[in-house]
Order: sequence, then C-alpha cells, then structure tokens
Amino acid sequence: MTKKHNIILQPSGSRGQVEEGISIRSAARDLGVEIESICAENATCGKCMVLIEEGRFEKYNIESKRENLSPVSTEEAAYFARRPKLLKDKGWEVGQVRLSCQCKVRGDVLVNVPEESRGNKQIIRKTARERAIEIKPSVRKYYVSMTPPNLERPIADWERLAKGLETSMGLVRGTDAKLPRWHELTIDYQCLRTLSKTLREAKWQVTVSVWQDQEVIEVQAGYVEDSYGAAVDIGSTTVALYLCNLRTGEMLAAESEMNPQIVYGEDVMSRIQYAIEHEDGLEKLHKAIVATLNKLLKQAAKSAHIKTEEVLEMVLVGNSTMHHILLNLHPKDLGLAPFVPAIHKSVDIKARELGLHINPSGNIHVLPTIASFVGADTSAMIVAEEPHNQDENWLLIDVGTNAELILGNRKRLVCTSTPTGPALEGAHVEYGMRAAPGAIERVHIDEKTLEPRYKIVGEDEWNTGKAKGICGSAIIDSVAELFRAGIVDSRGRFKQGLSSKRIRKGESGWEYVIAWAEETSIGRDIPMTQQDVRQIQLAKAALFTAARTLLKRSGLESPDKIILAGGFGSYIDKEKAMLIGLIPDCELDKVYAVGNAAGDGARIALLNIEKRNEIDSVTRRIERFELPTDPEFQNQFMLATSFPHMSEPFPHIAHLIPNRVADPMAKNFMK
Ligand code: FES
Repeated sequence: MTKKHNIILQPSGSRGQVEEGISIRSAARDLGVEIESICAENATCGKCMVLIEEGRFEKYNIESKRENLSPVSTEEAAYFARRPKLLKDKGWEVGQVRLSCQCKVRGDVLVNVPEESRGNKQIIRKTARERAIEIKPSVRKYYVSMTPPNLERPIADWERLAKGLETSMGLVRGTDAKLPRWHELTIDYQCLRTLSKTLREAKWQVTVSVWQDQEVIEVQAGYVEDSYGAAVDIGSTTVALYLCNLRTGEMLAAESEMNPQIVYGEDVMSRIQYAIEHEDGLEKLHKAIVATLNKLLKQAAKSAHIKTEEVLEMVLVGNSTMHHILLNLHPKDLGLAPFVPAIHKSVDIKARELGLHINPSGNIHVLPTIASFVGADTSAMIVAEEPHNQDENWLLIDVGTNAELILGNRKRLVCTSTPTGPALEGAHVEYGMRAAPGAIERVHIDEKTLEPRYKIVGEDEWNTGKAKGICGSAIIDSVAELFRAGIVDSRGRFKQGLSSKRIRKGESGWEYVIAWAEETSIGRDIPMTQQDVRQIQLAKAALFTAARTLLKRSGLESPDKIILAGGFGSYIDKEKAMLIGLIPDCELDKVYAVGNAAGDGARIALLNIEKRNEIDSVTRRIERFELPTDPEFQNQFMLATSFPHMSEPFPHIAHLIPNRVADPMAKNFMK
C-alpha cells in the first residue's frame, strides 16, 4: 500500500493526507487549492512557486521539513539559477522555495502558497450575444391522440403510435416527399423500453419528440410544448454551455468553467503528449471533460428550472484536439505528420454513449473539423459569421495559443493555422497572467514623460488597485506603447540613452517598469522585458505571416474586413494590434471583434438544422494551406518580426509612427 503523508496549505488552511510521490501542486489541487501554472508543469514558468515551512506545528501535529520533499531537481535548480535577483529581493533560498509542480511529497509538510502563485478563478469572458436566428431545430414535438387497443385491433404500441404520428406530422397527405411514411419512422431503444407504460399512464394522449423527422426520442404524457437543447464550446482553457429553448430559441442559461484538462497540460500539444505518454491518458482527459459538461448542464438546468432529461439535444464544438478527446478518439495523429484527424465530417452520436446526462435518447451533434489544427470551433465561427455568403473578402482570425485563419468570400475560402505560442495569452511573459483580478489589462505610455498609466481587471479607474501581473490585452498595449513612445525601435530593441528611471537593465536585459513594487500585490516591480517584447514579436510574426500567406494565395493585397473572434480578440485594442503588425493593414473601422463566435455558431447549429447541413458542405470546399511548406515562409516570418513590419507600408496606422524610416535590412529578406 502506498504511504500517506499530511500536507497543510497556507493561507487557505486546507489540509489532508496525500499519497507519497505526488507533487505538491497535484496534492494542492486534490485539496481544492489551485496553484498557477502556465508551462504545463515544465519547470519553466515559475508561476507555481511555494514556500516550505520548517518545524514542529502542534496545531496540526506535524513536523514539517524540507527533506520531506524530493530533492531539488536539475530543472528546478536551473530555473532558480536564472533568477538570483528574485531570490535576493524576497530573501528566499532554494529548498525553502520550491516549484510545486516538481517537488514530490515524501513526508509531512506545511506549505505556504504566496499570493502570486495562487490560482484565481479566471474571469470567464465567454458570453453569447444576441443574434437573430431562424428557428428550425432538429427535434420537433407532435401531439398524438390514439384510440386504445382492443381485441378487434390488437396493433402493437409502437405501430399504433407511428400511425398516429403519421397523421400528426402530416405524412399521410404526403405534402413533403422527403418525409418518411409511418413504417419508416424509428424509435430509440431506450425510449421504446418505457413506451408501453407511458402510453397507458397517459391514456393514449401523448406528445412525441421526433429527431430529424425520423426517430422518436421521447414520449411524454399529455400536451407538452417546449423542448430544450444545449450548445457547448469546449475551449482549451474555458468551457461554455448555453441552454436554449428549442421552440423559441430563447437562451435560458449560460454557464462556464475552466477546462479541467488544464491540469494535464496547458495547451493542446501538451494534452496530446499526455495522452500519448500515459496508458490511461486519453481516458482521464475524456472523463474530465465529460464530468465538467455534466456539471455545467446540471447548473444550467437548475437555473432554468428544468430537468436535465428534458434536454433533448446538445451541439458541441471545439478545436480538433478537444473534439477528439470529447469523442474518445485518440488525438495522437493530430500531432504527428501528416497531421490528419480521425474524421472531418460532423458526428451524430447518442448522449448515453458519451455518458452525457441529457435525455439518454438525445443526440449529440459535433460540428465538422477542417484540418488537424482547424477544428469544429472554426466551423462554428464560419456558421456564425458566414464568410461563405459574402461578396467581400473577409479575414476571420481566432487567436489563442494557436491561431486559426479563414479568408475569402462566396466564391472561395482558404484557411490555415499557426502556433502563436502562449505569449499573447500572458504565458512565457515574465509577469504574464490570465485575465483575472489583479491583472493589468490596459497600458498607456506618455511619449513625452515616458510615464505609464494602467488599468487593472476589476477596477473602474485607471491607476488604482494592486497589480499582480499583466494579461494578454495589456501585453499588446505595452509593446505597442513602448514602440509608439519610442522606447523600443521597430526591431523591438530598447533604445539607449533615454532618461527615465523606468528604463533600466534587469536580470534578463533591458526592461521598462510598468508598476513599481509598492503598486503591486506581489511586492515586486512589474516590468516588460526585452525578452517579453521578443516573445510578442515571434507570436505576431507567426500570425501576420499566416494572414499574408492566405492573402497572397487569394491574390489579395488586404482583406475588406477583419473579424477577430475569441475572448482575446474582444479585449485587444485593434489600433494597437495593427500598430505592432499583429493583424494586416486594413481600415480600422473594418476591424471587428465578435467575441465567442464559436459559441454563437454552436447555438445557431443547435437551433437551425439547415445550418448544420450548410457547414458540412462549406467545410468540404475550404482549401487548406500548411504554412511550413510555403517556400517564402521563413523570409516572410523574418520581415514580420519588425513593428509593424519591415517592408509592408501599413498606411492606416502610419500617422502613429511619424518618424518611421525604411529598414535597410528589409532588402536582405525580400526577393
Ligand atoms: S514551473 Fe511549475 S508549473 Fe511552471
């Protein structure tokens, strides 16, 4: 039997017994304490630092010792060796401070989780906006009144109901050649099992729910008007569920939660890796998401005052990895050349097969995938924005750790995807964090005084509150402002000789201090460093190059309209995004943020079955481009690392950088 040890977490006071060998971070999670991580536990982010207290703690009856943890690993030692200033400022020594993702429990310990390592509940910014949706659900209800069987007409219950339905559905009149005759209707087995009882109890007056005018999935006593459905967007970080009335289209509840798979890996690649490396990896990932979906469903049903069994259909979208894990399909081939998904087509499957607690006869519809890294969430974005029904050329961008891009109009659509890395979401940036309370979300720098102003999530006023880190939107702001104020040049290098105490040489090179230690809740200055700027340059160059490749392949100079989808797109300042060359040049009032377009698309597909058929046919004709195979990719990537770009003119934001000069290096990369 595995040994157990006591662990106490401060300041929360959470405590319990955990198995020997478990990491402190995992143990804390089991005890309900979330510790930050944005490196998938790779010992590189340092967000999970904890302090190990030593001594006898009578209150808990334990003797806490540093030796009760596994020794400091090479990776941990390397992390701390890169941060002597942090250790000095805090007065910590290695051994006392540990990376909680690396150290394993071998005895009793009392652990202090400092403010900066505490995981906050992320501010979930996935909301469904109001949209006009034509209501044509896949589930329809029909009232059927039958005469009870007797010895003269001993017809079986199902056949009796099907014949009754033929009349209710208008099949007899044969007005619609596509509708089946009664003998072509089917009944779900689970529904059949309770049919006889329901019919008799209801005295042969029932409301029948028919899926796609083909299959009976529910029989309810008497006259019932409403049916319910749920649309779900499974993001790598956040899962959002919208409960809707299938008759009226009304949204009754919206619930969201962090994706529980985060504990197995921050991004899709690390989750694929987890599934490959652990025999039960896929099962764990699959069960985790199914449990969260059931939880969200229960919460939504409760707030809408309905039972979960009244939910008759669920439409799900997610990137290809989320799609595969949900369907319990191994995602390994998504991450290996030639990068093919198990299926492109949309999938219909019974809820009970996935263990989802809607009506067991209910259907789960999963939208089609387009490529290994262009998934069902992109299909949903297309459903919501309909570039395939436009004359103008629209560029749709969904930015996350991976960016998916669709360009085109009713004649032609092209797509690609590119890893942008986690920098745009706040990871791999020294003080980067998610959009949670305490995160700086906006930054402005005065170009004369070089002094900043900033706004913190949860504060109404600028320059108030205590900062803990910088989230994605402020990272874009900071880099754009450093460039606009002339603190960094177009190649992202800090300029020398500027007189401001905020510009200084830090541990990892030049940096600009946005918030002084006394303005923060972590007691340390929060700077943007040269390395942070570099991370953003790489991310934005990847995104821009992907957009430019699609434009070029379509014979276009610039798009007529840019649509930024996803939470990140909604909160970035579009002018600043263009100023650093994150998005191609375009009229600024033609750049739109549409929020969670994938969630909107899922809702539309839930409420309108024709849209499902439409997206199935649209995705089949989208042309896919793999960026690494593009011969110009490397050169274009190099050109795109400059702000806003080494050679592209960017006329719409040129007035913000009046002294811009042509970069002589450009000619080396251009043909
Ligand atoms: S260093 Fe531990 S989670 Fe990143």
